[in-house]
Amino acid sequence: MEKTLSNIANAVKRNDYISDDMFKYYNVKRGLRNIDGSGVLVGLTEISSVQGYIIDDGDVVPSPGKLFYRGRNLVDLTDGFTSENRMGFEEVSYLLLTGELPNNEDLTAYRDELVEQRELHKNFVRDQLSTYRVVDIMNALARAVLTLYATDPNPDDTNCSNVIRQGVSLMSKFHIIVAYAYRVYLSEFKNKSLIIHNSHDDLSIAENFLHLIKDDGEFTQTEAQLLDLALVLHADHGGGNNSTFSTRVVTSSGTDTYSAIAAGIGSLKGPLHGGANLYVMTMMDEIKNGVKDWSSDAEIEAMIIKILDKKAGDKSGKVYGFGHAVYTVSDPRATILKAHAGKLAVEKGRESEFALYQKLEEIVPRVFKEHKGNDKIISPNVDFYSGFVYESMGIPREVYTPLFAVARITGWISHRMEEIQVQKRIMRPAYKNVTGKSAYVKLNDR
Ligand code: COA
Repeated sequence: MEKTLSNIANAVKRNDYISDDMFKYYNVKRGLRNIDGSGVLVGLTEISSVQGYIIDDGDVVPSPGKLFYRGRNLVDLTDGFTSENRMGFEEVSYLLLTGELPNNEDLTAYRDELVEQRELHKNFVRDQLSTYRVVDIMNALARAVLTLYATDPNPDDTNCSNVIRQGVSLMSKFHIIVAYAYRVYLSEFKNKSLIIHNSHDDLSIAENFLHLIKDDGEFTQTEAQLLDLALVLHADHGGGNNSTFSTRVVTSSGTDTYSAIAAGIGSLKGPLHGGANLYVMTMMDEIKNGVKDWSSDAEIEAMIIKILDKKAGDKSGKVYGFGHAVYTVSDPRATILKAHAGKLAVEKGRESEFALYQKLEEIVPRVFKEHKGNDKIISPNVDFYSGFVYESMGIPREVYTPLFAVARITGWISHRMEEIQVQKRIMRPAYKNVTGKSAYVKLNDR
């Protein structure tokens, strides 16, 4: 068995090879990217806008990053609800979905609807999460979503009101599925008692999530507001990010909501996308252990070079938490999170760790440029500080990427709606076949 599989793997390695020159020759837009690094234009959207550079006379000019949800600057949105000391995720999710900021009455009705839709089938935890337990909560979430298809009385209908009903239901359930899958994971893999708290109707999504994952169900208002802010920052990111694009591609075939959203979850799990927040933490553990003097630029620099040279870290050569397909000099989400990370660091006595993060922020872009000789400008992305913030709040690492999904489901549903309403064509790009022709040889003659 093992030999057969290794033979097959060897054949794949022998035969699945296409040189970089061929990609250049045929002008393939690898990763759907133009030569200058900008994304190939594949659609139009009104949902959000990610701005990381300016095109001046045809040249890409790096600029501070900006993010707009339905035309509203993320900074104004977050200032709006934080200055009034209230939760913002539900409001932002309404905005992304509808294109309108809700008034008080709309917002109350929307929140009530989200609460009403929270209920899971009574055997869901036992049947879904405990029976086929998985070590990764992203996979538990994807499976749970596919199972919800079975409980939907009208699963395949893609008309607007039906997809909205399904979307609101998923948005309201995601945080509960993630929290329960985490509790099951603790009991199955970490030898802890299985504690399943009930949801509280008067809690927002961020508050309810914290209530469900904490053993004693207790959390502080500061923690809830910070998590709520993090959810807002992760709620959407244009149509081209990998998980949203996956959701749109799958949607374009006319399939059901559950299949399209499961595709988004699978994509988000990847280390180059939402999974990066976890990889940042593992990388930071290694840096914290490997660098003896956290104030020494030279030591930090040497460590980064080792990571870039694939001699440290996960040996991929990636410095996780840095770089972005669109942002250049800054990611506005990272800037907002960093401000909160700084305050939390003081509160929790983690100033020296925070100082190390800040040092990396200075050193990594410079070393990347000097050592790799690469002109791409990389700066900290949203994943660089999110783990630090979550960890300072006592949120376990296993749910960092799932929390991204709890937020991004809003974007996925909004883009799925837009794809259905506007695009109206199955996505079907082309792959040029570059293999030579081979004669068929009969089985006994091979
Ligand atoms: N560390 C090391 N090298 C990096 C890098 C990083 N963080 N980000 C980009 N690069 C390198 C790539 O390896 C590539 O090198 P090559 O030309 O020698 O192959 C080059 O820079 C161009 O990168 P590319 O992957 O084409 O850019 P992109 O725009 O597609 O990358 C990311 C965007 C996010 C995938 C990339 O920056 C990355 O892998 N970052 C680390 C993972 C991460 O933090 N993801 C979270 C994103 S929010």
